[in-house]
Amino acid sequence: MRLDKFLCKSTALCKQEAIQSIHAKDVTVNGVVVTDASTQVHENNTVLLNGERLKARDFRYILMHKPAGTVCSNVDEVYPSLFRYLNVDKVSELHIVGRLDVDTTGLVLVTDDGRWSFDITRPSNGCQKVYRVQLSRPMSSESAQVVADTFLKGVLLQGEAKLTLPATMEQIAPHEVRLTITEGRFHQVKRMFAAVGNRVVSLHREQIGNLRLDVVTEQWRYLTLKEVESFRNHSN
Ligand code: URA
Repeated sequence: MRLDKFLCKSTALCKQEAIQSIHAKDVTVNGVVVTDASTQVHENNTVLLNGERLKARDFRYILMHKPAGTVCSNVDEVYPSLFRYLNVDKVSELHIVGRLDVDTTGLVLVTDDGRWSFDITRPSNGCQKVYRVQLSRPMSSESAQVVADTFLKGVLLQGEAKLTLPATMEQIAPHEVRLTITEGRFHQVKRMFAAVGNRVVSLHREQIGNLRLDVVTEQWRYLTLKEVESFRNHSN
């Protein structure tokens, strides 16, 4: 990782302060003063700040229950950021693994480990995301079966050239289904139902991989090591 990032992860310095320290020649890597903030360093390098050895903080892996009306972003936009409920240091270093729309609720994963989030989001990994979907138009069990078959084969979303990957749909009630997808295209669930002549009125993510949402709205918790590793195994 970059030297300025390493400093941020191992001290209380923000990025600007880390860069200033590097330019002020306060930082050595393996005994050599380094003044270029973009220098790549690795965990086994000896990095000293004013003579003191630094150790990068471990990556963070967090599960959150997103309420409606919040945006999946580090900063407030038109709507408040989901991170207003996350009382941890340096939220600016964190990112969201697979964003949800403002009106969507449910399971969101948050981390500062880019490799881990890439493994979860890239479609070739087949990591399942399970959504509970309320629809505006009721479906009989026969029409639900037709929709389920269509989603299993893949559906063409408006403006796209490639069919969606196979998705499974289970009907819960005339207006309600559970949908499992392995991609994360823009507004994918809403657009899949639009493609079959229906409209999503509410959307809730219940599960990612084997991880189920187990905290109440606005709450969060750290993942266990086993849960973190379950996603890495998933990618193999
Ligand atoms: N699909 C959508 O349409 N919206 C979401 O928030 C997530 C998946």
